[in-house]
Amino acid sequence: MPPFEKHILVCTNERPAGHPRPCCLSKNSEAILQAFKEALQQAGLKGKVRANRSGCLDACEKGPAVVVYPEGIWYRVTTVEQAKRIVKEHIVGGKVVSEWQSFK
Ligand code: FES
Repeated sequence: MPPFEKHILVCTNERPAGHPRPCCLSKNSEAILQAFKEALQQAGLKGKVRANRSGCLDACEKGPAVVVYPEGIWYRVTTVEQAKRIVKEHIVGGKVVSEWQSFK
C-alpha cells in the first residue's frame, strides 16, 4: 500500500519581475501551501494526505495552481480560506469544489 492516499501539489514557482508569464509565488502560494498543511494536520490526515511544494505546473495564468492526485483535479486557490474549504469538502468530504476548478 502506498504511503499516501492523496497528494496536493501547490506551485510555489517564482519568476523574475518582468517575465512574460506570471508566477504563483507572487500570488501568495507559500501561505496557501502552509494553509493546506495545517488543515490536513487539523483533520487528522497526517501520513494519509500530503501537501507538497511544487515547481511550475504550467498553469501559470490560472494560478496559484493546485492539483490533487490521484483524482487529477485542478484548482485555482487564491486565499487561505479556499485551501481550508478544499480540505474540508474535497479531501475529507469527497466532494470536489467545482466553483474553483481551473480545468474541467
Ligand atoms: S508558475 Fe505556478 S503553474 Fe507556472
